[in-house]
Amino acid sequence: MTAVANRPVEKLNAKEAADELRRLATEIAHHDERYHGQDAPEISDADYDALRLRNEAIEKRFPELVREDSPSRRVGVAPQAKFGKIRHRVPMLSLGNGFSEEDVREFLGRIRRFLNLGADAPVELLAEPKIDGLSLSLRYEKGKLVQGATRGDGAEGENVTANVRTVKDIPNAVDAKDFPDVFEVRGEIYMTHKDFAKMNEKQAQAGEKVFANPRNAAAGSLRQLDPSITASRPLRFFAYAWGEVSKLPADTQWGVIQAFKRWGFPVNPLSKLCTSADELLAQYHKIESERALLGYDIDGVVYKVNRLDWQERLGFVSRAPRWGLAHKFTAEKAMTILEGIDIQVGRTGAMTPVARLKPVTVGGVVVSNATLHNEDEIGRKDIRIGDMVIVQRAGDVIPQILGFVPEKRPKDAKPYKFPETCPVCGSHAVREVNEKTGKVDAVRRCTGGLICAAQRAERLKHFVSRNAFDIEGMGDKVIEEFLELGFISSPPDIFTLEKRKVKVDELEGWGETSARNLFAAINDRRSIPLDRFIYALGIRHIGETNARLLARAYGSADALRDAMRAAGKGKEEEAHQELMSHDGIGPIVAEAIVDFFSEKHNVEVFDKLLQQVEATPLEAVRQSPVSGKTVVFTGALEKMTRDEAKAMAERLGAKVAGSVSKKTDLLIAGPGAGSKLKDAQKHGVEVIDEAEWFRRVGG
Ligand code: IVH
Repeated sequence: MTAVANRPVEKLNAKEAADELRRLATEIAHHDERYHGQDAPEISDADYDALRLRNEAIEKRFPELVREDSPSRRVGVAPQAKFGKIRHRVPMLSLGNGFSEEDVREFLGRIRRFLNLGADAPVELLAEPKIDGLSLSLRYEKGKLVQGATRGDGAEGENVTANVRTVKDIPNAVDAKDFPDVFEVRGEIYMTHKDFAKMNEKQAQAGEKVFANPRNAAAGSLRQLDPSITASRPLRFFAYAWGEVSKLPADTQWGVIQAFKRWGFPVNPLSKLCTSADELLAQYHKIESERALLGYDIDGVVYKVNRLDWQERLGFVSRAPRWGLAHKFTAEKAMTILEGIDIQVGRTGAMTPVARLKPVTVGGVVVSNATLHNEDEIGRKDIRIGDMVIVQRAGDVIPQILGFVPEKRPKDAKPYKFPETCPVCGSHAVREVNEKTGKVDAVRRCTGGLICAAQRAERLKHFVSRNAFDIEGMGDKVIEEFLELGFISSPPDIFTLEKRKVKVDELEGWGETSARNLFAAINDRRSIPLDRFIYALGIRHIGETNARLLARAYGSADALRDAMRAAGKGKEEEAHQELMSHDGIGPIVAEAIVDFFSEKHNVEVFDKLLQQVEATPLEAVRQSPVSGKTVVFTGALEKMTRDEAKAMAERLGAKVAGSVSKKTDLLIAGPGAGSKLKDAQKHGVEVIDEAEWFRRVGG
């Protein structure tokens, strides 16, 4: 997202506002199509609402910038071409959204002002659940169902008459005496959680499409070109509004709903007449608390002015009535059973506990996994397997477990013991001490980087990268392909590709020449300086500098391995003390390398690798005019790369630093040197150019 997309509306200038409105129009249209057109939303309702609210707010500030294709001028998306179209005689509009108590009070205040009512004049409103399905208009003529239409874009919907005739909740004929000649009943098509689960199971068994949530399932089931498929789907209906009518059976919203009931249409039992904001809010909280037990999805509570003459007077603003408000639920929560805990191993070895849940719909999405963050979190919340847990899904983030329900804890609920070995590769897993805080890290990590399937790809990419083995022709793509084909699984395999007669040349995009070149590039690296060898292993905290340090300190791969194995026996061991005595090796680096070598899987790979390649000792450090000095390179160098310069200086016994401080002895500055040059002048550090450097070191 661009910076403008995050900027508060009141800070936008006209140009930015226009850009934002363009972006929002495109984005909202895209999500409308995903939601209405494909029944496959990509973002949560809350995020979608946020986009629309932002669009509205910008349009309010810059009315002159409202676009021809503004989302505020549309309700949903145009109907799909495959169904016939039906123009709604009375448009099917939407409702304005509210999210807070304040929004509800403002809504009521607006109504009072508009109708010029005193602050105490009673205003009756109906509060009822907002069903999370799709709206439908049913036209009856002389008591017969003659037409069923989806909302479509609000003006024109899809003709789904044949399909709605198969829905059991919808009467095909109404023979009540007071049923008007023309009457369009409007309401919501939905699916219960139970029916949804059963249907999805059937679909899965038959190898058919499974739906993400009940709403999508209802939409997908209604919009079937073959009505017999719709007939086999468990669709339900609630009536709550109307379109064109020749006569109304009552002069209040409540009265019409009672008539619906008499006429045989299902109406929601939680509807309640209220007379104040407090009462509305009480009903909102009551419905919210019963939400999990309803057995179908709702996403808020709708308030509607009861008197129809007042509804008439209040009328509409753009796409929504002034007399109605959808008070949306915010954080989406649900309760379900924690069936188990799985450990996911990330690409860097981090082990994350994931809750395996009995599937539950949270805010319109079926959730069967949720994150438990880390080992400590499980302990802190005392969450046990078998517990009834509270799941929260906020926006698009991974659902999380908030806690457990104490009254529902089964006697045999088991505390969870976090594994100390990696579930993917069996290597031992450790918690490090955080460098900055000095505390034990919350994250446990697998130490089997070189063999762990979860980490393999990243490790191999690192292994062949430029400052490690630098194998030409072995990029990320090749590593991934070779891994997938089983050609390689750990670094030593790279060096046996040719001997194993792996048919690299037969792969797509390869030929004899490229395969030969690859083998040549690999053979070219059968001898490599020890520091690069160590660096290539990808041990945590062992970057190039530490690798060089270790290479110099231990001299050979065998010596390093033996010393680290010995150091792993305990901190009191001489080998451990020696490791810590090296300048630059602190406890964190020491622990990381000792951990690596105490994992036998790693040692196996290490030894196998040594059968294939020779790790050559670094050149002895020469006594030179720069021995023991701290030097810094800056600016462009002409005769050598920065890496070469660094290696050369180190070979000559100098220490290479990345920035200039008062400890710096020498700055080698090429053309284009900037802040480091200034720093050097400030600290009185000697500055020389590349030519002078070569003169001094005699090369
Ligand atoms: S009244 C003119 N009542 O919410 C407004 N709508 O955001 C007519 N919905 O398109 C709609 N439950 O699909 C109304 N009890 C309810 C509702 C409800 C769900 C849906 C409906 C509508 C959307 C508006």
